[in-house]
Amino acid sequence: MTYVDDYLADLGPGDADITSHDTYTAGVPHATFEHLRSTDPVHWTPESDGGSGFWSILRYDDALDVSRDVESFTSTGGIRLEEMAEDEKLARRTMMEMDPPEHTRYRRLVSKGFTRRSVESYENEIRQLAVEVIEEALEHDEFDFVHAIAEQLPMRMLGRLLGTSDEDGHKLVAWGDALLGNSDPDFTDFPVDLTDTEQFRMVPFRSPASIQIFQYAQEQADQRRACPSSDVISQLLAPTTDGEPLTDLEFNNFFTLLVAAGNDTTRYTMTHGLWTMMNHPSLWEAWKADPELTPTAVEEILRTSAVTMHFRRTAAKDLELRGKQIEAGDKVVIWFNAANHDPERFEDPYRFDLARPRNDHMAFGRNGPHLCLGAWLARMEIRLVFEELLKRVERFESAGPHEYLRSNFIAGIKKLPVRAVRS
Ligand code: HEM
Repeated sequence: MTYVDDYLADLGPGDADITSHDTYTAGVPHATFEHLRSTDPVHWTPESDGGSGFWSILRYDDALDVSRDVESFTSTGGIRLEEMAEDEKLARRTMMEMDPPEHTRYRRLVSKGFTRRSVESYENEIRQLAVEVIEEALEHDEFDFVHAIAEQLPMRMLGRLLGTSDEDGHKLVAWGDALLGNSDPDFTDFPVDLTDTEQFRMVPFRSPASIQIFQYAQEQADQRRACPSSDVISQLLAPTTDGEPLTDLEFNNFFTLLVAAGNDTTRYTMTHGLWTMMNHPSLWEAWKADPELTPTAVEEILRTSAVTMHFRRTAAKDLELRGKQIEAGDKVVIWFNAANHDPERFEDPYRFDLARPRNDHMAFGRNGPHLCLGAWLARMEIRLVFEELLKRVERFESAGPHEYLRSNFIAGIKKLPVRAVRS
């Protein structure tokens, strides 16, 4: 039985501008990352739009080292390419932009709700949601997989964890889209590089959606203070044993982070997986014939999609890396997508292997304190959606052109028209 197939027929151009959001509307330029990784693995890219330029970390081993070395590479300067003034940094800070030990304190406030055990206690509920969503989509011969299935589950599930109502799910999806899609005119009237967003510089993602989320977060906080429960919002607001509780601004920023991080990333990962299966029916057949492949198949979807393409650090001191002189204050960008396709770590990296052994990919980061908080939740949602699709669908066929998100940060297929042939 064959478990492998090329997952990308077209690796894109070899000389793409990796900074430009427009580049990614044609898909991730894997050939460019490949070229940079093999010829100049710690690569300097100047920025033309007033940015200071940045170093790209492209090899798997280097990505691990930079993630772990929080003394040399701080997160406090910001985690995307965007440069922020000091007042913006302070106003928009979440635990993503903190280093230990401060980071540890914030992370501890929420980590309990996101452990493997904790999210697995939701398995039946998520499966039921997945079945509902899938059955509803399959009532139509053709549908947009993103809208009908992939977008529905993550936010509804996050809503359960946060304790927000199902009816509010649509609002949260639209706001989450506007945050992570803050460079895509389909998701916001204020794309960051195309319009003047100065008036929003003090709120997360320079997005007006953050202002709406803040209001919503405050209403939720008021309700929980009056009537606490066991959800994540109540945990965040509860008095702590090791310090002050979160301030309103800290709570609002954190809530916004969860809405942004828990929404599109899982959606686009599922979509990338489905897109691969649609383009490679032999993989779908093999997976259907052997459902025990599911755990490794899910990890391979995560590796190959690497939806969060990069997280940035800032050099905290002058240092040398692979012969390059990095100066304190330089932006250092870990490209998880490039690390996940490093041939020195992954044999035949552009082959999709349903049974890939030792798949210690970096889709969620790895080795560092910022390892994705939602990793177990995302994994379970992806697994359950595919388990339920495998039972019901013989094959997927394309029903129209797909579209990519305009973003140098998130690799997303935002539209995927499909025809599902039922088993
Ligand atoms: C497949 C889906 C997802 C992917 C690919 C993903 C990816 C990532 C990556 C790459 C990081 C940074 C790791 C680092 O810098 O070392 C991260 C951090 C984070 N993710 Fe996710 N994520 C996903 C789903 C989620 C979900 C569902 C949630 C929440 C419900 C979430 C919440 C977070 C948070 C809060 C952080 C910051 C953690 C910290 O700074 O300590 N993510 N994620």
